[in-house]
Amino acid sequence: MEKDALIAMLNKDLADEHASIIRYLIHAYQVGEATPFGSMLLGTAREEMWHMNWLGDEIGEMEAEPLMEQGVYPHDPTSNATLLRSYIEWEDNLITLYAQQAELVDNSELKRVLRQLGIESIAHKHRFEQWLEKLGPAGEEPFIFEEGSFSPEMLQRFREEAGSHYKLVLQHLRHAFVFEDENCEIGSELELTAMRHMKHLSHFTEELADSGQSFAFDYPGVDKSQSMKWALLADLKMTQAAKIRFQELAGDPELKEHVGLTIELDNMITRNDFLASLLEEMLQNVEKSEISDIPVKSQPGKFTVGSLINNQ
Ligand SMILES: [Fe+2]
Ligand SMILES: [Fe+2]
Repeated sequence: MEKDALIAMLNKDLADEHASIIRYLIHAYQVGEATPFGSMLLGTAREEMWHMNWLGDEIGEMEAEPLMEQGVYPHDPTSNATLLRSYIEWEDNLITLYAQQAELVDNSELKRVLRQLGIESIAHKHRFEQWLEKLGPAGEEPFIFEEGSFSPEMLQRFREEAGSHYKLVLQHLRHAFVFEDENCEIGSELELTAMRHMKHLSHFTEELADSGQSFAFDYPGVDKSQSMKWALLADLKMTQAAKIRFQELAGDPELKEHVGLTIELDNMITRNDFLASLLEEMLQNVEKSEISDIPVKSQPGKFTVGSLINNQ
C-alpha cells in the first residue's frame, strides 16, 4: 500500500474513533455518568480513546500529520434505544472495515493494531446489543429535556469553557502523537494530561446536558507547531489562561448556590496549576537538551520559560 494512501486510511480511522469517543461521551453526560448505563458508555468512550491513541501514535511514527477533526457518526437521537441501534450498526461496519484494512497492510505492528480495533468493535457491538435488550420498552421512551437553573449567560460561559477544554484535549493529543517518537516520556505525559482536561471538559458538558443544552464539539483548531518547545509553550499558555478563567468563574455570585460545581472548580484551579508546572518542567528539559546540543561558544544565552512566553 502506498504511504499516502495508508496515511489517509489511518487518518479516516482516527477521525472515526474520535467521533466514537464524542458520541459515547455525549450520551453518558445525557444519562448521567454515575448510572450503570452511563458508566458503560463512559467505559466504552475510554476504550475508543485508546483506539484513537494507537492510531495517532502510528501516524505520528510515520512522521505524518494526524487529523484532529472528528468523523461523522450517523445516529438517531430520539431515545436510548434508537441511539443503541445506531451504535450497533456503526460498530458492525467497523468490524468489517478493520478486518479488511488489516489484510491490506504489510507492517506487522499496524496489522496487529487494526485487527485489535476490529476485535474490540465486536465487543462494543455485543455490549450495545445487550443493553438494548436490558433497557427493554423503557429504552424506547423519547428523551425529555428539562429546563436548568443557570442563566443563559452562564450556560454560554459553560459552552465556551467546554470548547476551550476540547481544544486543550485535542492539542495535547496532537502533540503527543507527533512528538512521542522524539521524546516518549513527554508524549506519555501529554496523553495523561489530555485525559485530565477531558475530565474538566465533562464538568461543563454535564452541566449543559442537565440544563437540556447540547454541546456541538465543533473542531476548535489546534496548534500545529513543528518543534516540541513551541508545542509545549502553546499548551502552557492555554493551561494558564484556563486557570484564570476558572478563578473568575468560581468568584461569580451565580455559582454560589451550586456547591458541587464550586468544589470542582476549586479542584480544577489547583489541578491546572499543577499541570502548568509539569509543562514548565518539560519545557525546561527540552530547552536544556537543545542548548546542550549547541557548542558552548555559539550558545546565544539561555532562554527561560518566562522570556519565551513574553517574546512569543
Ligand atoms: Fe474503536
Ligand atoms: Fe467501538
